[in-house]
Amino acid sequence: MKTNFVPSLWIVLSLLFLNGLAGFTAAAQNAPAANAQLASRELNARVEALLKKMTLEEKLGQLASYSGGYATGPGASNLRYEELVAKGQLGSLLNVVGVEATNHYQHIAVEKSRLHIPVLFGQDVIHGHRTTFPAPLALAASFDPAAVELVARTSAEEARADGLAWVFSPMVDIARDPRWGRIIESAGEDPYLGSAMARAFVNGYQQDDLSKPDSVAVSVKHFAAYGAAIAGRDYNATDMSEITLRQVYLEPYRAAVAAGAATMMSSFNSINGVPATANPFILTQILRKEWGFNGFVVSDWGAVAELKNHSIGDGPTVARKALEAGVEQDMEGGLYTTVIADQVRSGKIPESVVDEAARRVLRVKFALGLFDHPYTQPSPAYVATPERRAAARKVAAETFVLLKNDAVEGVGKLLPLPAKVKSVALIGPMADNPNEMLGAWSGMGDPKNVVTLKTALAERLGDRLLYAEGCGLLSGEDENVLKRVNFNGPASADEHLPIPDDAKTIAEAVETAKKADVVILALGEPTNWMEGEASSRVHLGFTGAQLRLEQAVAATGKPVILVVLAGRPLELKWEAAHLPAILEAWSPGIEAGHAVADVLFGEVNPSGKLPSSFPRAVGQEPLYYAQLPTGRPAHGDLSHLPTDSGEKFMSRYMDEENSALFPFGWGLSYTRFSYSTPTISRAEVPVREVLGSRNGPVALVGVDVKNTGSVAGTEVVQLYIRNTAASVEQPVRELKGFARVALAAGETKHLEFPLGFDELSFYNVEVQRTVEPTTYKIWVGGSSLATAETELKVID
Ligand code: BGC
Repeated sequence: MKTNFVPSLWIVLSLLFLNGLAGFTAAAQNAPAANAQLASRELNARVEALLKKMTLEEKLGQLASYSGGYATGPGASNLRYEELVAKGQLGSLLNVVGVEATNHYQHIAVEKSRLHIPVLFGQDVIHGHRTTFPAPLALAASFDPAAVELVARTSAEEARADGLAWVFSPMVDIARDPRWGRIIESAGEDPYLGSAMARAFVNGYQQDDLSKPDSVAVSVKHFAAYGAAIAGRDYNATDMSEITLRQVYLEPYRAAVAAGAATMMSSFNSINGVPATANPFILTQILRKEWGFNGFVVSDWGAVAELKNHSIGDGPTVARKALEAGVEQDMEGGLYTTVIADQVRSGKIPESVVDEAARRVLRVKFALGLFDHPYTQPSPAYVATPERRAAARKVAAETFVLLKNDAVEGVGKLLPLPAKVKSVALIGPMADNPNEMLGAWSGMGDPKNVVTLKTALAERLGDRLLYAEGCGLLSGEDENVLKRVNFNGPASADEHLPIPDDAKTIAEAVETAKKADVVILALGEPTNWMEGEASSRVHLGFTGAQLRLEQAVAATGKPVILVVLAGRPLELKWEAAHLPAILEAWSPGIEAGHAVADVLFGEVNPSGKLPSSFPRAVGQEPLYYAQLPTGRPAHGDLSHLPTDSGEKFMSRYMDEENSALFPFGWGLSYTRFSYSTPTISRAEVPVREVLGSRNGPVALVGVDVKNTGSVAGTEVVQLYIRNTAASVEQPVRELKGFARVALAAGETKHLEFPLGFDELSFYNVEVQRTVEPTTYKIWVGGSSLATAETELKVID
């Protein structure tokens, strides 16, 4: 049944947001306020007046960035920052947090330094500042830019109240390989979804107006293509065609710049042989000339000095190369302040290069209002207010992905659990582990604020809840892993101590399971320090003795619900084959337990979808749905579908399927959705019309989505296209639209997705973004396996 579609505000907003604002043409032409703010005449007049008064040393001082607190990389400098600040030789400080600490330095800068230039304080605020929300990969699973914007907004308020006007977020690196531990900080594998998330983060943090007292400047990272580290090994080189670089990897950065991003962070990796931190092609040509970026670029931690390890020169040479390429601040490198001045004096580096760098840093400080309001006033504690907890709980529940929910003989579907369930055994090292719920980079997040699954279930079930830890996250047998994970040393806050006798605790867990009607297994991998930075893995199963634990528990014959708490896609092949229900809950943040319980008991119907393909085996990585075609596809032209042909000379593995275990976009609900055959508003469109459609659609894809089940639910409707006849081969499928749609039981809504230049264009061999005569296949559905199909012809 087709109903009149009354679009709710968020659908209208998200469709406009996702599809309307992303005009391809250089950001400069459509610069939003934040970017325009940096270019404003009045602001720049103040910058130029100041610049004229500055000595070379003072200008170079603006290019220095140091960590004044804990270390987030190797070899922290530990200099006398007060002295540097007083001399006007320090531009920004990271990891100095709190009103008192930041004001301490700010008073010195403003009152004691010759030109009274304020310090910019920055920190890694990744998914919440004091209120910890789900990790970014989880946020992407919500397919909900409005939720992400709320997270960023909340983070900005809390950060600013703590004296921080600069956040090292969002990380917008496309990540197609879960061996890379930093996939947790990303939005996953897809450039379209990644761009939507990038925009939402920037808008939430900056509010399109850096001068607001609770806006913070973003640092979009890591520019560029850091997520494509070869073999998933962190900091490794990347190597790819310029077409892939632009069409896939650069897209989310471009979206962030177009949304007004004030700063960027250069990455550790090289791209096609040129280190990103000394790469004029990406930093000057693309970022500044093509995208019209007006802000500044900070290097990643020590990345300027590390250029020496990339073998592109000695200290003075690499500092010159980085500065001339367009890295304005040297984070924890100390090279700019020591080796540039001589080169300027000898004429090797024109002073105008230093001027331009200092100018860009000062612009951001002026735009943030730091010259007019340098100090932070004490404000009420910002953490864990009921409103913030409610937001953290709601957002977390939206990010969970129901991977599997099969009926069990004699019981039916395990999920949702009935409120009156007689007894539940909660088992696993993630069940009551506050630290692990925060995620790999939770900054000021405090485990004391975390509600664990055990606490939340006990609130509901009282003594109907049984509990056993079962095993540790790591076992004593993982000697080398333990050594690496515990690099902070014994007795540090994040030390992992293995349980001395796993066999005994597993046996106890089995006894606990036997006493209950249903078992909830809460398993994962240690977020500290096995996920996130410098945390690549080649095995993607559960760590320690967890596989043994789940096999022993499953052998009791009790129905098992697996809740996975991990910041990367794990290999869940055994689990998918043997356990009836699996909920992916990622790293959910401070309201972890409540949010998981809300979904397990059906108060929230799961709606998350995978932002990243889950492999059957690590050997498939990098595995992503938007693969390029092959001349010998294993299964028609959709090589992401299961391989079922027995033919030999095909692009396939001998010992495994090509397809993902759980593909991109996948996620079940407690209800079911059906899709009508999509319609297209016009069957044919001339090329020139598409080329001229940079600000609007040329055709609309319509679809009716119906909730055919008996409970209300939210579906993430996804639109995929395939360009079937381009001069450069195009992926077998690409996401080009999505919308979250809430549907009451039995309800139908009609949705329309716009298609225009942004969705239909690609890079040709001249590396120009274009559109050619072709036919686009179009699918709409609830995952990248969508089958409801239509097409659009683009004619000469
Ligand atoms: C990380 C960045 C981070 C920086 C500052 C580096 O090690 O790669 O993501 O923003 O440290 O903490």
